[in-house]
Parts: sequence; C-alpha cells; structure tokens
Amino acid sequence: MAQLWGGRFTKNTDQLVYNFNASISFDQKFYKEDIEGSIAHVVMLAKQGILTNEEKDAIVKGLTEIRQDVESGKLVITDTYEDIHSFVEANLIDRIGDVGKKLHTGRSRNDQVALDMKLYTRHEVLAVDELLKELLSTLLNLMEENIETYMPGFTHLQKAQPITLAHHLGAYFEMFKRDRGRLCDMYHRMNYCPLGSGALAGTTYPLDRNYTASLLGFEGPTLNSMDSVADRDYLIEFLSALSTIMMHLSRFCEEIIIWNSNEYQFVEIDDAYSTGSSIMPQKKNPDIAELVRGKTGRVYGALMSLLTTMKGIPLAYNKDMQEDKELAFDAMDTVKGCLALFTGMIKTMKFRNDVMEKSAMNGFTNATDAADYLVMKGVPFRDAHGIIGKLVLTCIDKGKAIHEMSIEELKEISDVFEPDIYDAISLETCVQKRLTIGGPGPNVMRQVISQAHDYLENDWHSAIQE
Ligand code: ARG
Repeated sequence: MAQLWGGRFTKNTDQLVYNFNASISFDQKFYKEDIEGSIAHVVMLAKQGILTNEEKDAIVKGLTEIRQDVESGKLVITDTYEDIHSFVEANLIDRIGDVGKKLHTGRSRNDQVALDMKLYTRHEVLAVDELLKELLSTLLNLMEENIETYMPGFTHLQKAQPITLAHHLGAYFEMFKRDRGRLCDMYHRMNYCPLGSGALAGTTYPLDRNYTASLLGFEGPTLNSMDSVADRDYLIEFLSALSTIMMHLSRFCEEIIIWNSNEYQFVEIDDAYSTGSSIMPQKKNPDIAELVRGKTGRVYGALMSLLTTMKGIPLAYNKDMQEDKELAFDAMDTVKGCLALFTGMIKTMKFRNDVMEKSAMNGFTNATDAADYLVMKGVPFRDAHGIIGKLVLTCIDKGKAIHEMSIEELKEISDVFEPDIYDAISLETCVQKRLTIGGPGPNVMRQVISQAHDYLENDWHSAIQE
C-alpha cells in the first residue's frame, strides 16, 4: 500500500478498504494527462517564484522521464499505489529525491483529478469527432454515387414512396453532422482549467491560474473553485452526445440488418465484416451491425450511471465522483470502436441497386403520385385519394402494379386517366419531381451534397490546436 497521506492515522488501512478505495487500476489510463498537468503546474509555480528554476527543471525532467519510461514499458504501473497521482509523485521522489516532494505545492488531488479527467475527455472528444468526420465523408461518397439509385422509402416499415439511396444515406449524414455539432458545443463549454482550485477553496499561494490555463490550451481558468472540483457536467454532456451517436448508429445498423436479410437483399455485407455459424454452413451473419446495436446499451448505461452518481452529492468533492471514470472510459472506447467498425462495414458493403429499384417498383410506392396526377387533371385531392384507393384494391385483386394496368382497366376506375399517366407515375418521375429542399429529387440532392462538401471542408476541429 502506498498512499500520499497517513500522518494523522494510528492504524493501517484495512486491505479490503484499501482495495475498495483505490483507483489505480483504471485512472492509470490518464497517466500522460496527469504528468502534463503536473508539468504545467510546476512551470507556473516557478514563474511565480514559489519554486526556484532549478527545482522546476529537476521536477520537469523527472516527470518527463517517468512518462517516457511508462511509454516504453520500462516502468510498469502497479496497484501498489492508491491512484495514478500517488504513483507519479512517489516515482518522482524516488528519482529526484526531496525536491520531488514540492510538486504538490498549492494543489490538491481534487483539482488535479478534475484537470486530468478534463484533459483526457477533451482529447477523446476530438478523437470521436475525427471518427465521425471519416464516417461523414464515407457517407458523402456513397451519396454522390447513388443520386439516381432508386429504392422504396418506408413508414411503419411499409413501403411508402420512392426515394433514392443518396437521400436515405443523407438522412444519416444530417444526424452525424448534428452529433459533431454537439461535440463542438461541449468542447467549447468545457474548455476551462480547474487547476488552482485546490481542495475546494483555492489556495493561499499566489498562483497564476491564467498562465496554467494557457499552458494547457484552455480558454481560461474556471471561475469558482468549489464548482471546479465538483463539476462533471462536461462528462455528462459527452456521455449524452455519445449516447445519441450510438442511437444513430444503432438505427442505421438495424436498417442494414434488415436490408441484408434474405428477404430484402438490398445490401450484401462484405465477408470481412460478417461471421458464420458453427452449425449452419449456409449462414453469413451481420454480427458487427448487431454488436454495434447491442453496445448502445452500455453507453446509455454510463450516462444513466453518472447522472445518478452526481445527483445527490453535496458540494464540493466527494469520493462518489471517482465513479465518473470506469464507465465513461468504457463508453468512450466503445463508441470509438463502433464508429471505426461501422465505417469500415459500410465502405465495403455492396448495395444491390437492381433489387432496391425492383422493390421500389412494386408495393404501390407511386400511389401518391397517381393521386397527384388526378389532382393535376382537376380532381379534388380527397376524391383522388379515394379513386386511387379503389385502384390499389383492384390491382391487388389482379396481382398487378398500377403501371401494369392497361389504360382501359384504368378508365374503368376513372375516365380522367389518359395514357400520360404512365409517365406521371414512373419511378424516375416520382423521384425527380420531388424537388423541395431536403427532398430526393436529383437536382436538389446535388445542391445538398455540395453544401455537405463545404461543411466538411470548414471544420471546427482543425481550428483547435491540441
Ligand atoms: N481517485 C480520486 C478520484 O478519482 C482522486 C481524488 C482523490 N481526492 C480525495 N480527496 N480523496 O476522484
């Protein structure tokens, strides 16, 4: 057991208590951020004359070497330390002697851990954003290739009206674009430095918090020391954004699973992204899509867990807050993994344009357009709706699609029908005439695609220096 405290204790910690309390098994994940924060802290302490330059140099050198040794595997983080902060400090003292004991001047583990978690999360926000960007450009490529690939659009999972594959994929483009917007918003909101808040009430040392904040790439220091050590809003916001990303991925996966089914065959998932069955030789299963859909639950779980953990905590720091880490780390890793795999899966997936188009041709996806045809000929819409309803019933009876009915058969239903009906209800016409902004018509789709290119080129993320 190696702890940073003990002076006022007369007994050793019970081993089970020690194990229950320790966080090193998971907070070692941010050893780099811990060291980065400590370096900024001592540089500031030296600038303020709280440490000498020699002391600062010795500490910075020691910390840098610890980071290098952990990276190279020469120094292994073991659970003989309570947490990553103790591990780094104890190692520093081993390396450079008593001057290492000055590292923690004007600092508490409360503002230290608040900083470490923020630095780690900030980096993860950018990593997730990068993966989202890659997914968006993959989608945009597919959209460009499929402006005139017809498919049925569904409501209630029943064929509704014809659309294009570009239009369908474009819906997901918008969703993932909003996800990036959420990351951008929260990044700017969270980007204030808690270091210098001490345990809860600041410190009596003349720290320059503006300087520390600028060394670490923050907009500035946080403005209330109690809030600084007790705030995990930014994590809740991140987990919420991650949950929404998973919800979007999961819906998309659900569609891909349906499209990949034997009944639909709209797509074929690549062999490299499918798995087989141990008993049924014919099987090729969409496991990756199913796993992404399934993993949504654990990300939602992390959000619910942290919201619940935080809801009853009085100001300022309480040990409950140590629970902010494990599930949040898991959620971040899960979402990054899902995004990377999902993008790979759709990049390699084959779209069966012929099957999709055939499917759009039946199921009466042109019934609305047939009604609109009658309206154009002067029939009030409600009457036209009734006439086409009757026509659909007759078609079902005869086992025909609307366009397979002869003009005589059509005229039996309504004498308003003329031979120009066939052109009016063709798949091409149905799609091409849908030219309202946001619709599937190729002309308007091209405009939206060009806006999407502009969006991907003018990136909030590249404006940020890490
Ligand atoms: N492991 C702790 C955490 O994750 C570090 C902060 C400890 N502070 C304290 N007062 N015990 O929250």
